[in-house]
Amino acid sequence: MSTTTAIESVHAREVWDSRGRPTVEVEVTLSGGTTGRAIAPAGASRGSGEAVDLRDGGSRLGGFGVRAAVAHVETTLGPALHHADAAEQAYVDATLVDADATPDKSRLGGNALVATSMAVAHAAAAAAGVPLWMWLRGDTGDVRLPMPEVQVIGGGAHAHRRVDLQDFMVVPRGAATVAQALEWVAECYAATGAVLSDRSGRVTHGVADEGGHWPDVGGNEAAIEALTRGIERAGFEPGREVSIALDVAASEFGGGGRYRLAADDVELDADAWCERLLGWVDTYPVSSVEDPLAEDDLDTFAAFTRAVGDRVQVVGDDLTVTNAARVDAAAAAGTANALLVKPNQVGTLTEARAAFDAARRAGWETIVSARSGETEDVTIVHLAVGWGGDQLKVGSITRGERTAKWNELLRIEDRLGAAATLQHPRR
Ligand code: PGA
Ligand code: ZN
Repeated sequence: MSTTTAIESVHAREVWDSRGRPTVEVEVTLSGGTTGRAIAPAGASRGSGEAVDLRDGGSRLGGFGVRAAVAHVETTLGPALHHADAAEQAYVDATLVDADATPDKSRLGGNALVATSMAVAHAAAAAAGVPLWMWLRGDTGDVRLPMPEVQVIGGGAHAHRRVDLQDFMVVPRGAATVAQALEWVAECYAATGAVLSDRSGRVTHGVADEGGHWPDVGGNEAAIEALTRGIERAGFEPGREVSIALDVAASEFGGGGRYRLAADDVELDADAWCERLLGWVDTYPVSSVEDPLAEDDLDTFAAFTRAVGDRVQVVGDDLTVTNAARVDAAAAAGTANALLVKPNQVGTLTEARAAFDAARRAGWETIVSARSGETEDVTIVHLAVGWGGDQLKVGSITRGERTAKWNELLRIEDRLGAAATLQHPRR
């Protein structure tokens, strides 16, 4: 071990996230004096197989306090890591997993573990004197930058279920660089806002949890249609230059073979819901659909993928929860063809990387993703670039916790210049 990368101290504190809730921040100091810091994100629409986001309960802050998770970092995880080599991420993460010793990280908290795991990576990169993305990169040669997948209209759990689908996003697939991609997104965001204003008669709209326009529309299809018109109004050819990505997050309104679409005032069985969704995919320039069916509806999920998987990216999120074993199972069954990668769904960087690698082995696309509860922490951007992820999803282009990530990606692209190439989606 280098004498400068031994973990000297691990300190945690409560800080705030974008939904006004507390979350865990961890600061790691190495023997050579460098430090690394990271903050745990939190999700609103969680898969049932996710690592537990440990909350205090009780009356303080609506039960959302994280004092116990903070204490676990200070009294258990920190001492377990004392003098471990921060450059050995796999060993560090195995130590964290062993210290918790539950299958779902419920004893010490997935939030305590993920913030610690990421803070150690930051400290190791700092000790090596390189940005985190470079530290995480195994190979050399050109750097692949992820294609942005950006929310324009928010829905589902992020907009008080004003519509049922959760994310109405754009993929600026015709853009040549990240800078151009985000400029196109900004044009689509503004134009879609104008379409919504024309239809509602209201000049301004609120924003949903991840910064997308509040869904001031008459139903789920109306939101997809408004986004399509927004892309056109911004001057782009829908489908070829800018396509639509939907996160259905179907487990939020479906399960047990029934899908209750409150915004459309209809309840459908799995086959009828699948048919309706396939109709939207055919009618609108949709290139990606995340969690189209509920996580307990594997057969219909696979049927959806069989129907459109050659031309549409079908993404597992609640289905796969960044778990390598679940990705292997879903790949074998043909349930999806792309993976959403969220480190806090599983608890450590090493486990998230294993799920990412499982997706790669299966020939799936990878989409590294933030959560709805976010902060100024930009670790996720470095993971996407360092691991060579195909796409990056961090919500919209408004609100500071989102722009922090896009701006970090712009900085990386700017510094790399011609050494970076933007990835273009296969479907
Ligand atoms: P969440 O949603 O962070 O609220 O779970 C994000 C997503 O489903 O992709
Ligand atoms: Zn999702």
